[in-house]
Amino acid sequence: MTELMLEKPSERFQNFFKSDKYRQRIAHMSLSGATSLIIDFEDLLVADDELAEKLLEQPDEYLEYASNAAYDQLLIEDREYAERIKGQKIAVRIRGLPYTTPLRSLGSEHIGKLVMLEGIVIRSTNVRPLVINATFRCKGCGEKTEIAQTGNFITFPYRCSNPTCKRTGNFELIYEESEFIDSQEIRVQEYPEELPPGQTPRSLDVQLIGKDIIDTARPGDRLHVVGIVRAEAKSYPRTGKLRAFSLFLEANFIDTAGKEPESLIISPEEEEQIIKLSKDPWIHRKIIQSIAPSVYGYEHIKEAIMYLLFGGVPKYLPDISIRGELNILLIGDPGTAKSQLLRYVPRIAPRGLYTSGRGTTAAGLTAAVLPTPTGGMTLEAGALVLADRGIACIDEMDKMRPDDRVAIHEAMEQHTISVAKGGIVATLNARAAILAAANPALGRYDSYRTVAENISLPVTILSRFDLIFVLKDIPEKERDLQMSEHILELHRKGASPSEPPIPPDILRKYIAFARGINPTLTKEALERLRDFYLEMRAATETEGSPIAITARQLESLVRISEARARAALRKEVQPEDAEYAIAIMRRSLEEAGIDVSSKKIDIDIIMTGKPKSMQEKLRVILSILVKMEKDTGLVKKSELLDKLSSEFDIQRAEAERLIGQLIREGTVYEPRDGYLKKT
Ligand SMILES: Nc1ncnc2c1ncn2[C@@H]1O[C@H](COP(=O)(O)OP(=O)(O)O)[C@@H](O)[C@H]1O
Ligand SMILES: [Mg+2]
Ligand SMILES: [Zn+2]
Repeated sequence: MTELMLEKPSERFQNFFKSDKYRQRIAHMSLSGATSLIIDFEDLLVADDELAEKLLEQPDEYLEYASNAAYDQLLIEDREYAERIKGQKIAVRIRGLPYTTPLRSLGSEHIGKLVMLEGIVIRSTNVRPLVINATFRCKGCGEKTEIAQTGNFITFPYRCSNPTCKRTGNFELIYEESEFIDSQEIRVQEYPEELPPGQTPRSLDVQLIGKDIIDTARPGDRLHVVGIVRAEAKSYPRTGKLRAFSLFLEANFIDTAGKEPESLIISPEEEEQIIKLSKDPWIHRKIIQSIAPSVYGYEHIKEAIMYLLFGGVPKYLPDISIRGELNILLIGDPGTAKSQLLRYVPRIAPRGLYTSGRGTTAAGLTAAVLPTPTGGMTLEAGALVLADRGIACIDEMDKMRPDDRVAIHEAMEQHTISVAKGGIVATLNARAAILAAANPALGRYDSYRTVAENISLPVTILSRFDLIFVLKDIPEKERDLQMSEHILELHRKGASPSEPPIPPDILRKYIAFARGINPTLTKEALERLRDFYLEMRAATETEGSPIAITARQLESLVRISEARARAALRKEVQPEDAEYAIAIMRRSLEEAGIDVSSKKIDIDIIMTGKPKSMQEKLRVILSILVKMEKDTGLVKKSELLDKLSSEFDIQRAEAERLIGQLIREGTVYEPRDGYLKKT
């Protein structure tokens, strides 16, 4: 301890606690039955900077002083409560250090120091009681010995404390007389979007001890955690402890109040710059040109990505909530720069990550419950949870794990992921916008097939995408020439031939700033969207199409319009925004093989892969079958085929195929060879 300190540290802490703010905090402890007390580090720094400094340097010692001082002050403020909690230590918790220590820079010089880290929780174990004071009984003489416990393993008595016994073995733990405290372990990782390109993320295990801090952070939460850095060597039976230690953090305080990471803090000058940018009449073009500038062409896809980055406004109604995030799917031939586009997005998204469909961890795209080496269970967050309130770029989505295929529906629909396994029951948030890429199931995109036939993803997932684009690798002289020049120039210079008009770090802040604006639809914009929708519905109605564009596309149009207004920092959605939304929606529908100009939009074709005519034919076959059943009970297949070809012009081969499909679907079955019946 230092000679500079004239008063004892605990007295200095007690002085600090005598300020109005802390007197009140201490006096109020009994109201919530608290045995912990929060100190805002700022306050301590102002009141006694030397003490604050010491607390950072020697936290074990100084937290003890603070705890004792807090108890002494509690005796003054609320003697009755102090007596009641006597024997329990007051946990003094420190909130908000002046700076965060990057996870990446944590090293041996930090051992035993108080630090603040920021990151995202990627896993958490179930809550387990940890013994802090163990009472043992000697099996020889029955004498009891109490031992305070620290570290990972139980410390047994060295020798029986009974002087006449003094045995060195055979002790049993008496649970009822031992003292336990709830503990939990979480793992915190660097923010995915702040990862230097090509680096694997660093993570650190954090131990939480005490009712007031356990279960305050779930996987996917972003947090600031103050704690003491500890080192621990793995021990092995027989060989002993390893010489190499690994670091972990003993948490003192957890702050999940969504503070922006330092890289997103916008200075007043930057705010001015952002607002000036937004006034540019070409702002949308500039943003589009700033998205993956090294990728040639694909203006419309970059435009869609712009909408995805800004997002629409979520609506929370009393009975339902409607997502604001857009989901975009790129289906395309190999080598069409899909991965390139996806990898760029996390660099400009305020929050976001890139992952492959298989996922990079055991948790895949959603979540997983896994056993821990110490016999507990841990809940691990997958990509969509880590991308909560951000953008998940999922490459090769068609290759996702079967578990994810099931769980991803809930994620895309309700924006949550529920887990109930191995004693862990949790619902994690997954409010992510999805930018997905998929390769065609047959290697190359086949324009004569529907989207659903081209890709091995279920229709239920496909229908959750607001926009779908197809990237085809078709030789085209002019374009090939320009693109090859673009790519060669890129290789020659080692940099992108076209500089982004807005640098990535400014664009990120621009987007973060814009996402705080919630534009509303003007009457004119609303009318445009409504007219387009009604026109499309009416066009298909007259032609007797089963389903034209649906309310889903209307919601998508609203989201896109809002996103476009946000991109110009406007509080109102103008008719112009609606026009652009309609244009990009048309483009997406057209790319999916729909002829929009003739207004024969049939979402069924995109999604179910059953063209109207085919569905119509199936419907006809079924109705004829039912009619014939009324007369004959069982229907002779040959008679049905005759009727179909003579009266409905459905040829034998096609009819056979369609009947085969109905049988596979289970709508029709063959009770006897050559006979059919509807189920
Ligand atoms: N339009 C383009 N502009 C620039 N580079 C391109 C373009 N199309 C393909 N490439 C290049 O081709 C390579 C393959 O791209 P990649 O993103 O891996 O394709 P995909 O994921 O679609 O299979 C990359 O090196 C990429 O830079
Ligand atoms: Mg790829
Ligand atoms: Zn004994």
